[in-house]
Amino acid sequence: MTKAAPLDTRPIGVFDSGLGGLTVLRSLIDLVPGESLVYFGDTGRFPYGPKPAEEVRGYALEISDLLVERGVKMLVVACNSAASAALEDLKARYDIPVIGVVSPGVRAAAKVTETRRVGVIGTVGTINSGAYQRAAETSGLDLTCQACPGFVEFVEAGDVDSDEVIKLAERLLEPVRSANVDTLILGCTHYPLLARSIASVMGRGVTLISSADETAFEVMGRLEVGDSIVGQEPRSGAVPEARGSHVFITSGDTATFMELGARFLGPEVADVEAHKWS
Ligand code: DGL
Repeated sequence: MTKAAPLDTRPIGVFDSGLGGLTVLRSLIDLVPGESLVYFGDTGRFPYGPKPAEEVRGYALEISDLLVERGVKMLVVACNSAASAALEDLKARYDIPVIGVVSPGVRAAAKVTETRRVGVIGTVGTINSGAYQRAAETSGLDLTCQACPGFVEFVEAGDVDSDEVIKLAERLLEPVRSANVDTLILGCTHYPLLARSIASVMGRGVTLISSADETAFEVMGRLEVGDSIVGQEPRSGAVPEARGSHVFITSGDTATFMELGARFLGPEVADVEAHKWS
């Protein structure tokens, strides 16, 4: 009888420009709770959305190097802006799997749309990069892409449904509304928190897609290829008993990260480590 390979208990590395990627972490904790996770939030250099692609690419490489040095077995780029600027470079740079949020979002939209008319909203960087357009090239989807500057700032300020938010949403979402999309990809980590306001502007007939869950499913799929989901018997589907550890690192203020992190993730945000870029 051949002996099963030991489980790979190294953590999965996840990063974002700040706190928004914690929506992806939430999905990962729910889907693969036995896995250990290291999350890096680059709050000290936030936001990425309005910055030039080259600068964001540099940040993404720096954080990924740091996570790889800490021994992660997989990298999840939870930030749409970073994935749009650097995913291909990151895939070429490391010999561990690197997963972004763009393709999972497109895949999820392709599964639910009936009319094939799909909208994508994201930061200026994400939309201008053309990453969603490239990811959807062979999908047969008719994509309408729209940058939504201002949305992230409202979420950061804790305002997700004021009259100002609705007014801005009505203005920014006009192009996707007139394109008659039946599905809208929330192509930014922060937008799921605006889902209620966005849904009220888009109307009932439009399905909103958050790439967080779909990304977590892709991570699970990659782990299953190696038959190595920690805390779960291989292929048994049993509810795991073991909980993985969660480490948080921020380049900004740790107390603020902890306080605001709870809004994105819940009580799991504890013991935040500080990282200062030299
Ligand atoms: N995390 C970014 C994204 O998903 C949004 C915030 C930012 O601009 O850095 O695009």
